[in-house]
Amino acid sequence: MKDHIILAPSLLAANFAEVGAQLAEIKAGGAEYLHLDVMDGFFVPNISFGVPVIKSLRKATDLFFDTHLMIERPERYIAQFVSAGSDLITFHYEATEDPAAVLRQIRDAGVKAAISVKPNTPVEVLRDLLPLCDMVLVMTVEPGFGGQKFMADMMPKVEKLARWREELGLSYDIEVDGGVGVENARLCVESGANVLVAGSSVLGKPSVREAAQAVLSAAKQ
Ligand code: DX5
Ligand code: ZN
Repeated sequence: MKDHIILAPSLLAANFAEVGAQLAEIKAGGAEYLHLDVMDGFFVPNISFGVPVIKSLRKATDLFFDTHLMIERPERYIAQFVSAGSDLITFHYEATEDPAAVLRQIRDAGVKAAISVKPNTPVEVLRDLLPLCDMVLVMTVEPGFGGQKFMADMMPKVEKLARWREELGLSYDIEVDGGVGVENARLCVESGANVLVAGSSVLGKPSVREAAQAVLSAAKQ
């Protein structure tokens, strides 16, 4: 288990009319990452935002930009998401023919590289790719929408990733995404996750600073 727990509020749940102030508030509440959910309407049945929004937000905050690409053939857009200001890029195993090449492409572009699997994809498919990963993201909902119910039955994937990290002598982070909040943050950490995405449970709350503090303290309790 990694000791340092990182909170990554998801922009998807923000109030876009007040987003600059909300980003300052989540930072004051202890958030270190901003999770940026990019959806193309093909890989997932929803469309969110893309490069220009990230570029604009980059001027408003120094939070670490954790970009989650839910797009088909992410290799087409890596350079643009890097130049927009991403610090880390996650793409989906299911979205490309050559995931190893995409992981290398992201690192070669100068940012951290991560890969994710949907709930129905076994985590074993990632095993040979782990040396190329700075982080692995385990989806705890079907990707596409915020506000869904946390799938506790994904925790064995997190446990396996933590075990393999020891066995292989690697140091990747393990992130969970979907339905994470005060009720299950500790379970995620005990299973082996150290980066927690929180949409509705942080940026969806009236006081985002207090909500960030509450999820972090539940995770560490
Ligand atoms: C789902 C996204 C999530 C989502 C999380 O496709 O990847 O990052 O914004 O939102 P909550 O925490 O509300 O499930
Ligand atoms: Zn996400």
